[in-house]
Amino acid sequence: MKRVLVTGGAGFIGSNFVQYMLSNKENIELLVNLDALTYAGNLENLTAVQNDKRYKFVKSDIRKKEIVEKLFCEYDFDTVVHFAAESHVDRSIEEPELFLTTNIVGTQTLLDAAKRHWKIHPNDKYSRDYRDGVKYLQVSTDEVYGALGETGMFTETTPLSPNSPYSASKASADLIVRAYHETYGMPVNITRCSNNYGPYQFPEKLIPLMIHNAINDKALPVYGDGMQIRDWLHVSDHCYAIAKVLEEGKIGEVYNIGGNNEKANIEIVRLILAELGKPESLITYVKDRPGHDRRYAIDNKKITTELGWAPIYTFEQGVKETIKWYLENMEWVKRITTGDYMNYYKSMYENI
Ligand code: NAD
Ligand code: DAU
Repeated sequence: MKRVLVTGGAGFIGSNFVQYMLSNKENIELLVNLDALTYAGNLENLTAVQNDKRYKFVKSDIRKKEIVEKLFCEYDFDTVVHFAAESHVDRSIEEPELFLTTNIVGTQTLLDAAKRHWKIHPNDKYSRDYRDGVKYLQVSTDEVYGALGETGMFTETTPLSPNSPYSASKASADLIVRAYHETYGMPVNITRCSNNYGPYQFPEKLIPLMIHNAINDKALPVYGDGMQIRDWLHVSDHCYAIAKVLEEGKIGEVYNIGGNNEKANIEIVRLILAELGKPESLITYVKDRPGHDRRYAIDNKKITTELGWAPIYTFEQGVKETIKWYLENMEWVKRITTGDYMNYYKSMYENI
C-alpha cells in the first residue's frame, strides 16, 4: 500500500492526476495534496475526490521547509510526485524570480525532506538496494531541451538548453534532482512531457484560452506567424504515463512523454473555430513572445518500448471532448476569469 505526497494537486495536471490515481489504483492508502492555491490552483477541480477517505488536502507552500518536513513525519510518505510549479512561460518573462524560487528552491526543499525521512545517505547507491518502493518523481517538461529546427526530436540524452526563465527554472530543478540521485543515491525518476490539454486547464494556455475567447466571440491572439509547433498530449495520457513511471520506471532514469502529435498553433486555432462554428475573422496576429521556441517534438521510444506506455487519445477526439468540457463548465471558467485574470489578460493582450 502506498502513501503518496502529490504537490500542486489543485492545478491542471495535478488535479487530473489525483483523480486518476484515486479512481484507478487500489494500492493507495493515503494521498496528500500539498498546494499553495496560487491563481492556478483551484479546489473546485477536486470535488469528485474531496470525500474520499484516502485523500487529504494541505494548503501550504513547498518552499516552507518546516511544514514539508512535518508532513513527512506525520504521514510517512513513500512516494512523492512533484507537480507544483509556476508553469506559464509568458508570466515567467514578467516575473522570473518567482519562477526560480518556486521551481528550484521548492524542488530542493522537497528532495531534502524526502532524503532525511527516507534516511538516504551518500553511499546508499553503492551499498544496498533502494528502500522498499520509495520514489521521488519530478514532473518536468520538454521545454528544458530548448527549441528544434524543422527536423529532429528530443530524446532523453538531448542536452538541456532552456530559453525562457520558466524552462531554465525547470531545467535547474531537473539538475538538482539528478544531483541528489548521483550524490546521495536518492531514488528518483524525471518525466519530461510535451504540451498537455484537457479539462481543468487554466485559460491562460493556448487551447483553453482560444476555446474561451471563441465561445465569447473575442479575438484569438496568435503570437507571431502562428507557425510554432508543439507536440500535444491529452492530460489523461500524461497521468497514465506518470503512473507507469512510478510503478515500473528504472531508478535514476529520465522518461520523455509525448504523443507523436505535432501541430502548428494556427492549425489548432482553426480547428477550435471550426468545432465551435465560429469565423476565422476572430484570428488576430499579435506581437511574438520574446525568445519563442519554434518547435518541440518528443521521441517517446524509451517509455513506449521499455514501459509499454502509449497514448490512448487521438488529438481530434481529445480536442472535441475538451471543447465539450469547457462548454459544459462555463461557470467554472467564469469563476476563475474575474479579478486577477482580467488584469493579467489586459496586460498581456492590451492592444486587441
Ligand atoms: P498549473 O499552473 O496548472 O498548476 C500548478 C499548481 O502548483 C497550482 O495548483 C498551484 O497552486 C501550485 N503551486 C504553485 N506554486 C506553489 C508553491 N510554492 N507551493 C505549493 N503549490 C504551488 O500547472 P500544470 O500545467 O498543471 O503543470 C504541472 C506541472 O507539470 C508543472 O511542474 C509543469 O512544469 C509540468 N508540465 C506541464 C505541462 C503542461 O502542458 N501544462 C507539460 C509538461 C510538464
Ligand atoms: O511543452 C510543455 C510546456 O507546455 C509546459 O512545460 C508549460 O508549463 C506549458 O505552459 C506549455 O508551454 P507553452 O509555452 O508551449 O504553452 P502555451 O499554451 O503558453 O503556448 C502554446 C503555444 O501557443 C506557444 O507557441 C505560444 C502560443 N500562444 C500562446 C498563447 C497563450 C499563442 O500564439 N497565443 C497565446 O495567447
